[in-house]
Amino acid sequence: MKHLQEKVFAFLLASLLAATAFAQQAPSIMNIGSRQTTSLDGQWKTIVDPFENGYYDYRLKPYDGGYAQDKTYSDKAKLQEYDFETDKLLFVPGDWNTQRPQLYYYEGTVWYRKHFEYSLEPGKRLFLNFGAVNYEAIVWLNGKQLGKHIGGFTPFNFEITHLLKEGTNSLVVKADNKRIPEAVPTINADWWNFGGITRPVSLVETPSTYIRDYYVQLKKDDTRTIEGWIQLDGNTQSQKVTLDIPELKIKKEVTTNADGYASFQVKAAPLLWTPENPKLYAITITSGADKVTDEIGFRTIRTEGTKIMLNNREIFCRGISIHEETAYYSGRAYSKDHAHTLLSWAKELGCNFVRLAHYPHNEEMVREAERMGFLVWSEIPVYWTIHWENKETYRNAEQQLCDMIARDKNRCNIIIWSIANETPISEPRLTFLANLANKARSLDNVRLIGAAMEKEEVSPGLMTVNDPLDKVLDIISFNEYVGWYDGDSEKCDRVNWTFETPKPVFISELGGGALYGRHGSPQERFTEEYQEDMYIRHIQMLKRIPGLAGTTPWILKDFRSPRRHVPEIQDDFNRKGLVSDKGQKKKAFFVLQKWYEELKEAYKKKSLSKQTIPITPKKKNRL
Ligand code: GCU
Repeated sequence: MKHLQEKVFAFLLASLLAATAFAQQAPSIMNIGSRQTTSLDGQWKTIVDPFENGYYDYRLKPYDGGYAQDKTYSDKAKLQEYDFETDKLLFVPGDWNTQRPQLYYYEGTVWYRKHFEYSLEPGKRLFLNFGAVNYEAIVWLNGKQLGKHIGGFTPFNFEITHLLKEGTNSLVVKADNKRIPEAVPTINADWWNFGGITRPVSLVETPSTYIRDYYVQLKKDDTRTIEGWIQLDGNTQSQKVTLDIPELKIKKEVTTNADGYASFQVKAAPLLWTPENPKLYAITITSGADKVTDEIGFRTIRTEGTKIMLNNREIFCRGISIHEETAYYSGRAYSKDHAHTLLSWAKELGCNFVRLAHYPHNEEMVREAERMGFLVWSEIPVYWTIHWENKETYRNAEQQLCDMIARDKNRCNIIIWSIANETPISEPRLTFLANLANKARSLDNVRLIGAAMEKEEVSPGLMTVNDPLDKVLDIISFNEYVGWYDGDSEKCDRVNWTFETPKPVFISELGGGALYGRHGSPQERFTEEYQEDMYIRHIQMLKRIPGLAGTTPWILKDFRSPRRHVPEIQDDFNRKGLVSDKGQKKKAFFVLQKWYEELKEAYKKKSLSKQTIPITPKKKNRL
């Protein structure tokens, strides 16, 4: 009886908290796309507020009655100095920089306002989910602050079950992309600081008890055991949950514990996911009134000395780096179509791997890569000169890591979580990154941990990586620009590499710039001929690297950067793309494509020669 009283009290307390105080930022909801959602995408009313007048008073204190109250300026006898009833609109999702010329370089606050109606049946719950807002978002519903989210590339949501109004609801978001030294990333980066509600916004309706999260994958290094867990939210104890994988004839029923959690293991022999055959299995998870479907690929990944082993077969990661930027108009990408265009170019290049730099890309990109057969390197923006000794900075970086893993842990094609890019060596930096690596491994033991370290020229023409971080990582991954930042193209002919640590070598960046259509001598920088010649010589250098297991040259497509100022050549674009920002393939594209074709054939032969032909016991002739 006492136990029941405790449960009832706990449930009442939770409901009271949810109803009175502001909504709590709820833990992430797995697989939004499979749920009952209502999109809030489209045109939102906006106010550009560089001095944050809608939030701080003239003494720089947050004040009640700010823009979040969304007051209509109807009584002209009263003073009101804002009004959302304006023709200043922005599309959501989307960055503001490429939507409005006045906002091209803008860094600061833009207020977004959306009105919507929603009738929620009793016993149902409603969540407000954001795919991402760059960089800081504060959200209000009907004048009540729901909460704040920091980090420009990870999803977040708030439960609004008890905050809905009859008729029109007012949703207000303060989006602020100001760069801050203690932030993640910090104030200096080589990509455009796209601001805004850059990914979709949706209302997610669930039963009172729903399947909030789940994980389904092969057990580490075991291709015959599928394991995972389910987490319910609501009245969750001793609930039945069923996992269905019809194509594998799996129907597994489990019962949740006091925390609404249930784990499982089932024997199975799934066809393993590979880039050549990206097999995905339809799964359904049901519990009570809730049902979620997904598509899961099964594979194992590990290293063996200097080899990367996918499903116990040595692979070479024929990769390319990609920023989350659309083809053609070069704004923040967010859709399946945006993803498909970029990945189709990578496919034409002959890639089986993409480095989604330098931050978690949108979920459509990861899922489209999984369907199209690309292995993925996924990364948090711990980039360059992060404030290693600031506790809040570490907490922010760790939160972004956890959110990235939480969202994509069921995407089999992600094989590397990357925790940093080109960070200067120091004790505080090593501690910061080692803690992130430990955190990632505590959350996920079926992926490799990487980072883009930097190389060192130990003597003229002899290169290596001298970074204590390589003891923490599973691969020796690093960026090098021999032939661009480091010497001219002919330097590639003179360089050799040596590595002590017996781990796979992965070059996460190499390359050089060219403006599409600019032609001249191979010695002239920014001509297609320079880039082509540099790639030819660079690839000959790569072939001499012992233990090279993959590379993701920088970069698939020219992209916007505020650091690139050669007029009529760069004009705010980094020109290291093998494809121009208008989708035109440069000469170097075909140099890399040719090498990848050779590698594909070589590894196919290697794998065939290693292939153990199953010895099937001789069948007795049955008459
Ligand atoms: C660095 C960095 C990239 C940058 C590139 C470049 O390696 O990681 O983000 O764009 O160099 O200078 O083009």
